[in-house]
Amino acid sequence: MSNVAVFGAGYVGLVTGACFAQLGHDVVVRDINEERISALQAGRVPIFEPGLEQVLEEHGERIRFTTDVGDAVESAEFVYVAVGTPPTHSGDADLSAVWTVVDELPQVGRRIVVVMKSTVPVGTGEKVRHRLDARGLTDVGYASNPEFTAEGTALRDFMTPDRIVVGAFREEDGDAVAALHDGIAAPIVRCDVASAEMVKLAANAALMTRISFINEIANVCEATGADVVRVAEGVGLDRRIGPSFLRAGIGYGGSCFPKDSLALKQLAANSGYHFQLLSAVIEVNELQKRRVLAKLERHLGSLRGRTVALLGLAFKANTDDMREAPSLVLAGRLQSEGATVRAWDPVARPRDLKDVEQLDTLEEALAGADAAVIVTEWSELADLDWAAVAQTMKTPVVIDGRNMLDPAEMRAAGYRYEAIGRAAPGNGPETT
Ligand SMILES: NC(=O)c1ccc[n+]([C@@H]2O[C@H](COP(=O)([O-])OP(=O)(O)OC[C@H]3O[C@@H](n4cnc5c(N)ncnc54)[C@H](O)[C@@H]3O)[C@@H](O)[C@H]2O)c1
Repeated sequence: MSNVAVFGAGYVGLVTGACFAQLGHDVVVRDINEERISALQAGRVPIFEPGLEQVLEEHGERIRFTTDVGDAVESAEFVYVAVGTPPTHSGDADLSAVWTVVDELPQVGRRIVVVMKSTVPVGTGEKVRHRLDARGLTDVGYASNPEFTAEGTALRDFMTPDRIVVGAFREEDGDAVAALHDGIAAPIVRCDVASAEMVKLAANAALMTRISFINEIANVCEATGADVVRVAEGVGLDRRIGPSFLRAGIGYGGSCFPKDSLALKQLAANSGYHFQLLSAVIEVNELQKRRVLAKLERHLGSLRGRTVALLGLAFKANTDDMREAPSLVLAGRLQSEGATVRAWDPVARPRDLKDVEQLDTLEEALAGADAAVIVTEWSELADLDWAAVAQTMKTPVVIDGRNMLDPAEMRAAGYRYEAIGRAAPGNGPETT
């Protein structure tokens, strides 16, 4: 068993630390956020990730938390880097937190391996290698071990991944990082550092492309009278295509897809290449969120003075993560059209959502509203007694941005219901 230091106690760092402890390694998680570390030391988990609290509790004897670099690295054999890499104004990845970790690394007088978990542009490993060498840390190894977990299912994804990717400059460092995952049954893709970095960016780009693809198919379905749910089923059963990421909706958000697509686009541009397909994927996603406004206007006319309830705020279900959530764009757009916005979410409680009343129950959010938009696919929405709630709304208009509900049942319950890419009054080819 090994000693692993994890830098970054966010969604990825905590899951990585918890899972390595579960695999039997001794783990120290280091963060610069003192409040976060104090909470973790006191047994409180600062993020919402199903199962994380339990795993941290169960394996508490093998995982501890610190703000001190020296303490974290003292007996470490591996230093995992899981710090944030948000976009800069230019769209490139902001690597300042990564550089801070590299520059803070003390001389330890024995071989350790720095392992990059953060999503970084291709070429970052090479630059880190140079910086380590320039600091005289020539016996510090470097490997890229990108993360593919999804928030909401991150623990399961980590312990039963589709694959583990390890890129290293030295074979033995790659072997050591691969061996850390003993106990996980998954193919291990061994490659050079640049290719490992690109696997992560390319995998995300492929998933985003599927989302924008099915959303465009949905938009054409609306114009022609087809039903995207049936279309996706028929397309996804083709073994060459497969069913995942073919669910039409109001577009992707979150802490990864938007920033990673921009970073890959910029990476290509900085290298003199115009990544046309990815540019279209990003543009389709931007427009998709805004189409909800046109749907609301079709039912309500002007939105000025109307009250619209956003059902779900987090960028997807089973997380409290609000980064790049479509709800933020929708709230802003609705407010700029003069609507009053209120919201419900079972876990996300964003503090910076201006002038949006956040209510504790779906019933409160819907009572007296002119319309509701399903923004996040929380299971509570499928379980709601919609027929009862219809009576409490001012006008029972529901735009289902996640295609969660049954159109026939919703219409039978008295709603003017519209989803994404599904048959609805006013959709389909114009007939004379
Ligand atoms: N969130 C995901 O589901 C996901 C999935 C795959 C990959 N990633 C990538 O993993 C990386 C981390 O993402 P996240 O969502 O966990 O970010 P996060 O913002 O939740 O956490 C990052 C943490 O790093 C800490 N930090 C900053 N500088 C530090 C330093 N010098 N030392 C120690 N800690 C420091 C921050 O205080 C913060 O707590 C990003 O590159 C992201 O793109 C994220």
